[in-house]
Amino acid sequence: MSQTPNNPADREIRFIHDHEGVRCDLHLHSTFSDGTQNPHKIIELARRRGIHPTLTDHNEIRGSSIIVNTPDLVVLPAIEVATWERLEFILYFREFGELEDFFVRHLEKHRIPRRYAVTTLSMQELFEALTEYQAVVSLPHPFAPAWKNIEADPERKELLLGSSIWPRISYVEGHNDSLTVGSNRNGMDFARQQGKPALAVSDSHHPRSLGNSTVVFPGVKTRDDLWTALRARVQPEVHSREAELISRLRDVMNFARKHTALYALPWLQKRWMLPYNREDSNRSAK
Ligand SMILES: [Fe+2]
Repeated sequence: MSQTPNNPADREIRFIHDHEGVRCDLHLHSTFSDGTQNPHKIIELARRRGIHPTLTDHNEIRGSSIIVNTPDLVVLPAIEVATWERLEFILYFREFGELEDFFVRHLEKHRIPRRYAVTTLSMQELFEALTEYQAVVSLPHPFAPAWKNIEADPERKELLLGSSIWPRISYVEGHNDSLTVGSNRNGMDFARQQGKPALAVSDSHHPRSLGNSTVVFPGVKTRDDLWTALRARVQPEVHSREAELISRLRDVMNFARKHTALYALPWLQKRWMLPYNREDSNRSAK
């Protein structure tokens, strides 16, 4: 394994030689939640950039079903699940069927019409449900602004860190492109203090940031390899760079636009709450 420093402030992406493993972006969004690109566009763009994009839409799996059926991509079925306490968790699964089963049986009924990133599912309920699956759990953006910050509520922090939930979490996002340098430094420090391996992700919501920060698990070249590495809690090489100001501004504007639109527009709420067994041609169109 080459010794790439885990430096969140590093502005350089170090391009990886083939033999060292594929470059994975393990956290990003499509038009199936609050992203601006449909999964087909993400696939196209990722291929051009040499990135393997694991799609993690908020409380939604239709986009993931498209991306995981792309044979040349090393990606896993995944989702970003929000809980009632307003903390989010990224779940990676081995097979799409398992993610689908989790979504249909445990999550779909908890979605909220006007919110992409809150559900009525409690943390306790989430982790109880996960005992049925072999999902790998990552804690995203631990030092995000406002309520997403794990420090925002001491009781919630105690529930997260002081209960049986914490050992179930395999990874901490040490670097997330939507956050500031300071927040990412805290994220990396936190992962180290807690003895959890750290990930670097783009959390991309628009094409500009896709693959801005990635991880490389040495020797990982297939979906099975990636799953095995995640299950074993391998510390990947992190390839992070500070997002450009323009990219961060676009993220903020996109976030405000998408979330306000969902809050205000009944037709969009209807589409967001479309039952899983119904086709959504609007968002999956090529
Ligand atoms: Fe996200």
